[in-house]
Amino acid sequence: MNYEQAVRKLKEAGQEHILSYYEELSEEQKEMLLAQVDMTDFSILNSLKNQKEENAKGKITPLAAMQISEIKEKEAEFKAIGIETIKKGKVGAVLLAGGMGTRLGSDDPKGMYNIGITKQVYIFQRLIENLMDVVKLTDTWVPLYVMTSDKNHNATVNFLKEHDYFGYKSDYVAFFMQEMAPASDYEGKVYMEEKWKISTSPNGNGGWFSSMYKWGVAQKAMADGVEWLNVFAVDNVLQRIADPCFVGAVVANNCAAGAKVVRKCAPDEKVGVVCLEDGRPSIIEYYELTDELMNAKDENGDPAYYFGVILNYLFKVDDLEKIRERNLPLHIVEKKIPYLNEKGEKIKPEKPNGYKFEQLVLDMIHEMDSCLPYEVERNKEFAPIKNATGVDSVESARKLCKENGIEL
Ligand code: UTP
Repeated sequence: MNYEQAVRKLKEAGQEHILSYYEELSEEQKEMLLAQVDMTDFSILNSLKNQKEENAKGKITPLAAMQISEIKEKEAEFKAIGIETIKKGKVGAVLLAGGMGTRLGSDDPKGMYNIGITKQVYIFQRLIENLMDVVKLTDTWVPLYVMTSDKNHNATVNFLKEHDYFGYKSDYVAFFMQEMAPASDYEGKVYMEEKWKISTSPNGNGGWFSSMYKWGVAQKAMADGVEWLNVFAVDNVLQRIADPCFVGAVVANNCAAGAKVVRKCAPDEKVGVVCLEDGRPSIIEYYELTDELMNAKDENGDPAYYFGVILNYLFKVDDLEKIRERNLPLHIVEKKIPYLNEKGEKIKPEKPNGYKFEQLVLDMIHEMDSCLPYEVERNKEFAPIKNATGVDSVESARKLCKENGIEL
């Protein structure tokens, strides 16, 4: 793209300020900026105007979860099916590690965070230790696909290599990078990160399968016989990955997807809950849950929307293939975005100063024909690290690790 073309594209998008410093740039920087303008889809910024209509929800009704009591009764059957599926090499695990983890406040990728007290225990290490339990049980290496972003790819790859993948066999680890999206101020003007660089951020965890595909990693997985992908977040250090009982339950119930869920600890807890939307499985975010839905009861008189997702899903690869090119809803998220001010100085804001645009994996559930919400024990499987202190923090996760006999 040449300068004139860039001016035209930016004028149409109302983002001419991006070229404010153009005359000061070196030839190389000019080229980099023009290439970025060429690549960037500014149309996502229109969603700031249309957000309400675009993300309107359909009719919400309850979707019953398979509860722990039922799972216990069928545990042997489910486990046997799950183990067999894993042994046949049909299950892969996808670690979503492309996020910026801004709430934790560390400049390193979140997985590099050391939660140890008497020794070093990194978040990545904890996750791999958990996956190793399944490797040992099934005597099978589960392929591990790690999604990174432009912001943390090199640091993540180098860190895992330096630590010899914490004992995981490197042949079974593959990386791919997610896409980026421009970040803007509250008026929808894109921020600049450098005079020659538009401020971008990872485009949410919803694009994981299409990114996996763009990198050829999904095709390789399918060629290797992987039929199920267990997608999980980097920050839950009690996460069970490729859990045979969960895999077996989803396979036995002939579902296109499964979602691990926990009983909410309060009706207004900030987690998305499983439901049906216009008769299809869906997840409704906590801020979309009206008082009426929060207090609704199911036919047994129990709260109807009480099972919260923990970002651990199992998807059938065939069904992912079918929806790969579908557009998921865009979520506008308020975040702290480092930027260049009018004087060209770099500012690292203390509080949110604009929007990032994200697609979310939870919206993929609505694209699936069926989904099994599968209840797990909260204190055994859910210790997310979002913040440095307080709720869902390093402190709360350490406490839960201790309760589960994990030495830190
Ligand atoms: P979070 O919703 O906690 O987002 O991600 P985050 O960006 O990492 O953290 P904050 O909000 O800035 O503090 C949930 C999971 O999805 C991954 C994260 O790495 C985490 O495993 N994720 C999130 C991605 O892989 N890509 C993204 O663009 C966003």
